[in-house]
Amino acid sequence: MEVSLYTKAFERSGFDCGVSVLNDFLQKRLSQELKARSCACYVLHEEDEKQVLGYYTLSASQVVATHFEGIEKRLPRYPDIPVTLIGRLAICGSQQGKGLGGVILANAVKRAYENSEVIGACAIVVDAKDENAVAFYEKYDFQRFAEDEMKLCLMKNCFQML
Ligand SMILES: CC(C)(COP(=O)(O)OP(=O)(O)OC[C@H]1O[C@@H](n2cnc3c(N)ncnc32)[C@H](O)[C@@H]1OP(=O)(O)O)[C@@H](O)C(=O)NCCC(=O)NCCS
Repeated sequence: MEVSLYTKAFERSGFDCGVSVLNDFLQKRLSQELKARSCACYVLHEEDEKQVLGYYTLSASQVVATHFEGIEKRLPRYPDIPVTLIGRLAICGSQQGKGLGGVILANAVKRAYENSEVIGACAIVVDAKDENAVAFYEKYDFQRFAEDEMKLCLMKNCFQML
């Protein structure tokens, strides 16, 4: 398995992760979002094959500083803290439960950590779609924001734990 930057050469029509909003994003909205540069998309696929088996998106974002109370004290004194957002992450149904979610999450965290040297980010933040997704991210030490319970973060000093 490999993770590559998405290009139009990839086949996304058969992708079904069981969550329609995540299927629709990949199949119907991704091209527009890429044109607008609102995210970058990375896809999981077999070596030399173009069928998308999983994907995640990364965007530059920010989170109100008060969200980090009780999570991290040593932050710059800005009203908003720069972060990298994993906006979406999914594995197709036929491949779920084989450890691939952990593989692409680790890939996203590594990429965000490396890129924070180029564009600063104090943390990685994820938008969880439901309580199952929250449980998945908590397994990898992401912490829930008390002020917004469907968002979780991994601080920069934890980036290398995955
Ligand atoms: C959530 C998702 C990405 C997990 O991918 P996966 O490949 O099935 O998960 P993995 O096989 O890598 O599992 C990794 C670990 O997370 C756990 N895990 C997987 N899904 C979980 C869930 N929904 N809740 C809690 N833990 C979960 C697994 O038990 C496993 O732990 P283990 O190693 O101790 O057994 C995948 O199920 C998916 O795409 N779901 C639909 C979309 C979604 O909810 N995306 C989340 C972001 S919004």
